[in-house]
Parts: sequence; C-alpha cells; structure tokens
Amino acid sequence: MMNTSTKLWGGRFRSELSTETEDFTQSIDVDSRLIPHDIWGSQVHAIMLARQGIISDEDLQQILHWLSKAESDFRDGKFVLKPEKEDVHMNVESYLIEGAGSEYGGKLHTARSRNDQVLVDAHLYIREQLLDTQQGVSHLCRAFLSIAQDHTETVMPGYTHTQHAQPISLGFWATAYVSMFLRDQKRLNAAYQLANLNPLGACALAGTSFSIDRNLTTELLGFDGTHEHALDVISSRDFIAEPLFALTLLMTTLSRLGEEIVYWTTYEFNIATLDDAYATGSSIMPQKKNADIAELTRGRTGKVYAALMDLLTNLKGLPTGYNRDLQEDKPPLWGAFDVVQSCLGILPGLLETLDFNTDRLELLVNANFATATELANFLVSERGLPFRKCHEIVGNIVGGLAKQGKTFEDWAETQELLRSEGIDLSITQLQHILDPKRSLHNNRSRGGTSPAEVKRMVSELGEKLSQIDNQIHLRQEQINTAYQKTLGVTEQVLGGKAIAEVCFN
Ligand code: ARG
Repeated sequence: MMNTSTKLWGGRFRSELSTETEDFTQSIDVDSRLIPHDIWGSQVHAIMLARQGIISDEDLQQILHWLSKAESDFRDGKFVLKPEKEDVHMNVESYLIEGAGSEYGGKLHTARSRNDQVLVDAHLYIREQLLDTQQGVSHLCRAFLSIAQDHTETVMPGYTHTQHAQPISLGFWATAYVSMFLRDQKRLNAAYQLANLNPLGACALAGTSFSIDRNLTTELLGFDGTHEHALDVISSRDFIAEPLFALTLLMTTLSRLGEEIVYWTTYEFNIATLDDAYATGSSIMPQKKNADIAELTRGRTGKVYAALMDLLTNLKGLPTGYNRDLQEDKPPLWGAFDVVQSCLGILPGLLETLDFNTDRLELLVNANFATATELANFLVSERGLPFRKCHEIVGNIVGGLAKQGKTFEDWAETQELLRSEGIDLSITQLQHILDPKRSLHNNRSRGGTSPAEVKRMVSELGEKLSQIDNQIHLRQEQINTAYQKTLGVTEQVLGGKAIAEVCFN
C-alpha cells in the first residue's frame, strides 16, 4: 500500500496529519533560535559518519554543501522555517533533501535521532547563553566595585529589620552585592560544566549498531567530554534545571537590589537619586520620577521562578526515555535567560549613574543611635564590664534620650544619663566614641566594614572577577576554535578532499 503522508517520518501513516495536530505539536517559534546550532551539529555528525565509512565522500560533500547553504540562506532570510515541518530539525533535513536529493540528504539522519539531536542544539545554545549571562553578571559587579572604591569612607546606617543598626560604609554595601554575585557566578559555572558534555550518539535512547565515533563529535563540537549513558542522556534534563536554578537565585538577588533602589530613591529615604536616563515619569502627575527599572526587575522575577517550577513539574512524572513533554523544556529556560539578561543589560548603567546623597547618609547615621553598640563595646573594653551589663546601661541611656526626643548628639544629656549609671565621660570622649567614622574604622574584623577591610575585599573580589572573565574568554575561544575546526574540515571536503585525507588540526 502507498503511504500518503508527506512527513519525513510518514512511512507508517496512511493519511496526512490534521492541521490541528500540526499546530498543536510544532515547536518552530521556540526552537528557531537553534538553527545555527542544529546546522553545526549536523555538519559534525555528517563528518563523523563519513570518517567512520558509514556514508561516502560524495554523500558528505553533498550534505556539507547544502548545510552551509542552509546556514547562509537562514542568515539572509531566504530559508524560512515552516511550522508544518514540525521543528527545526525537520526543517533543516527537508531543506537538505530538497536541495541535494534524497539519495544524499536522506543519509544525514543515519545513526541519529531527533532525541539526541535536539539535545545537541540545546546544549550548544545553553553554553552560549550561560557565558553571556556570566559576562552580564561581571559587568554588574564592576559597577558595584567602582561604587565601593569611591565610598570606603562614606558612612551610612546599616539596617537590620529595616531599622538603623550600625554604621557601615556605602562601599561595604556595594561589595556585599559583589560577594553575592560571585556565588551566582559559581552556580552558572557549575551549570556550564554540566551542559558542556556531548549528548550526540545517544540516538533515540539505546545507542546504535553503526560504528559511530562519539569522541570525534565531542571534539568538533568543543565539548569537554561525552555524556555517555544513552538512556540517561535522552531522559534527563538536569542541564536545563541547573541553569534555571542558577538564574532563579540570581534573579532573587537582582530583585532585592531592585527593592533597595526603589525605596532608597523615595522622598522619605532620599539616599540616592536616579539619573534621568534611568527613570520614568507619570502621565498625570507632573512631579513624578519613578524607579521603574528597579520595579520591573522585581516584578519579572516571578517569571523566572515560574520557569523553574514549570520544568520541575514537567520532569517529575516522566518515565525514562524521550517523552514529548520534554519539548516543553525550552520555553521556560529561554524565557528565563531573556529576563535575566535584559535586567543585567540595564542595571550596570543605572548603578554607574546613581547619585548617592552622602550628606543625607551622614545625617541619618547620626540621627538614630546607630553607634549605640560602639558605646557598649567601649564600656566592655575600657571598664571591664560584662557585655550584657553594658548593653543594659546603653539601652537605658537610649531609652532616656528617646523619651525626651533627643539623640546622642545632645551631648550634655547623654553625659548626664551616663553619669546617673555611674559612668563619667567627658563630652570630647563621648564625641570620639560615638563618631560613626571611628566606628567604621574600628570594625576591622575579617569581612567587616572598616575601610581597610573593604579596600582589601575590593581588590580580592576584583581579582576573582578577573579570573572569571578570563575563564569566560577561554570558553568562548574553546567554542570558537571547535567551530572553526568544523568549518575547516567542511572547506577541505568541499574543496574535493576525501575525508581520509582531511587534516583535523
Ligand atoms: N521538538 C522536539 C523537542 O523539542 C524534538 C525531538 C522530537 N522527538 C520526537 N521523538 N518526537 O523535544
């Protein structure tokens, strides 16, 4: 009986798909960004097939010719993907078969399945995206380090419970973010390592009876190694979940930063002013200047969380092997990369142009007993009293002053209250002890807010960032070298060289 389905997989079908089925199952919108990766994967697969004697030199020449043409036609907008071809893989293969004829183009898919093919594409794409994300994080860190460098001596209240706690420097605040983001870099790096393993050769789920060479495809695709176990490869999506989790935590920190920018730029806080280029206005209230970038960063965080939940929920019920549910692994990750990268694209500029109101910070740090712990510490060191006792004494004084609407800077009252607790200090001594700058310099413990520590941390954090930047660069080179090698082999083959004669170095 003749088959009447026009699909490449249509052999057993006796009629065409309904258009509803086509619409429902196609994934063109999602995986069109994988075209260059799909073509690279196919070039490498074909080269390996020929090298192993599974296809002939002539087959390879034809396949590589039409794959190169597919690549340039796609770039020039001349190769338009058709949803009725279902996905990116079928579109490329059909292009090849239409161009080269089935006797050549029909051989590309030997010893391969779309199941490992889609994984190759996704691995290659994720590698690039992770490196771009890491670069964005580095850029943001540099903006924070530059704030830190300029403000190691700028005192401000450090907050706990959003209440004044102890004096810190603005530089200390800025380095805290760099310290956090360096952990994001570690997570992104771990995700990269996991994604940088070659799934090609797992085939549908069971490996293949053809004598394929997985080491060669690993090398030509620039992977660090081969993800060996075929059934595990086909069934697992850790390499999607890990980047998603890394992005989720990164977004959490960006959102918290957004929150801080929102209220630091309020009239009430008035700690910082946004540059006009990074703020927006109101359609009705002429006076408004809003921190929309910070708000949208905060507001888009849910999309990234949802993406992680989307994927985890998808995976939890799946038996081993390929299940079509897995087609849905890509939209959440793509969306999460898009959100995170757009935030990372704009926040460095916002921070670089953020104007900190240092007078206001100094006023605040003096206004509300932020140095109370310093006074207690002084009593411990100088009077040999137990800390708990000193805490109580200073607490009494703060309570007394607050009741009268006074602060430590009402020196006579502070002195008087201390005297009633049996502690005699001159006003000059008091001014010295309760000076926030002194407190800042005193907190010299490792990782503390003293300018000396912050300067040390700025330089160490900067050093770590340079190492990361270097690693990103090396990885980009590793990818590029592998791609160039593939192109080099392709060129030799298209120039008429038999695959056995081709130089791979
Ligand atoms: N579009 C599919 C995906 O993204 C490609 C793999 C299809 N495999 C299959 N057996 N139908 O997962």
